[in-house]
Amino acid sequence: FHVDWDAVTAEKGGFDHFMLKEIHEQPKAYRDTMLGRINEDGKGVHFTDLNLTKEQIKNIRNIQIVACGTAYHAGLVGRNIIESLAKIPVETDVASEYRYRSPIIAKDTLVIVVSQSGETADTLAALREAQANGAHVIAVTNVVGSSIARDANDVIATLAGPEIAVASTKAYTSQLIAFYLLGLYMAEIRGTKTPEEIAHILAAMDSLPEQVEQVLTQAPIIKEYAEHIAQHKHLFFIGRGVDYAVVQEGSLKLKEISYIHSEAYAAGELKHGTLALIEEGIPVIALATQEDVLEKTLSNIKEVKARGAEVMVVSYEERREELMKSVDKVLSIPRTLPLLTPALSVVVLQLLAYYASLALEHDVDKPRNLAKSVTVE
Ligand code: G6P
Repeated sequence: FHVDWDAVTAEKGGFDHFMLKEIHEQPKAYRDTMLGRINEDGKGVHFTDLNLTKEQIKNIRNIQIVACGTAYHAGLVGRNIIESLAKIPVETDVASEYRYRSPIIAKDTLVIVVSQSGETADTLAALREAQANGAHVIAVTNVVGSSIARDANDVIATLAGPEIAVASTKAYTSQLIAFYLLGLYMAEIRGTKTPEEIAHILAAMDSLPEQVEQVLTQAPIIKEYAEHIAQHKHLFFIGRGVDYAVVQEGSLKLKEISYIHSEAYAAGELKHGTLALIEEGIPVIALATQEDVLEKTLSNIKEVKARGAEVMVVSYEERREELMKSVDKVLSIPRTLPLLTPALSVVVLQLLAYYASLALEHDVDKPRNLAKSVTVE
């Protein structure tokens, strides 16, 4: 009698890989990160344990978000979120650049470091640099007992649960949730959004877990497209606004685990050089969820189509018919507020990377040359 069972298989909870399990855990991670931070009436946000006072929040002149890898990409979306909600100027920087470029840190500068593990050496060094210059540092981290959490002035815990796959998924999306909550909290204190607007955004956030479930049901279509792009050596991602931030993460995810070379471009910047690389049959993945710039993105799509690219767009289902006139394939996300789309669209790109890696028979959870936590500078 033989039982084919081991501890690792058991931990994967029926999924083939930790990455797929963690992608599927995102609805729960969203709920857990929101839980206890949204007022009972659903109309406001509180961070009971922040040392940063309301008075300090009113006086923040600028914010610097500092992180590495996927956490840096969450910080790029974080910039859009905080600027849009709280109207505070934000810069996002990679930690290894930030600390050596003599950043201008005033006493009313708030520094937010983002780190899943809380152990990344470059991020920890950036935190210390910021503190040495008198800044208050908030750590957004998934590991509350980590070095970064210990040294920071404040910790916002992302409650994504342990993340095992090297390629980060649920940690990234729960970092986005933390930024939405923080942005709304600051907006309330600074009076940059009305209580009605805040309640409206929170109501939309409440639907995100269920909407992620809807995205997950599209896995078979995404898999089919992933098997197609797995035959290519190079591809491009384009987007505008938060879509640009999300495609940077989508491109990184694909590179990390499928080893397919890709570049993420701001859709409007493509024509300033990169268009030279567009040739017959090259896949271009466009995120087009921001309706205020949809026309502009569509004209960028036409530019690459005219040069032979094969275009796949991620947008809303209602746009499918119109989009199919100018592109080759459409994948859709459920309708949400423009600022919240990253929490849904990135899930499509995570699945795409996962299935491309699978099609190429790579080690999805342990990609070559990479480590989950990088504790050397
Ligand atoms: C490593 C991992 C990446 C991760 C980055 C930052 O390079 O391979 O997936 O995004 O570190 O990690 P952190 O734990 O600071 O978020």
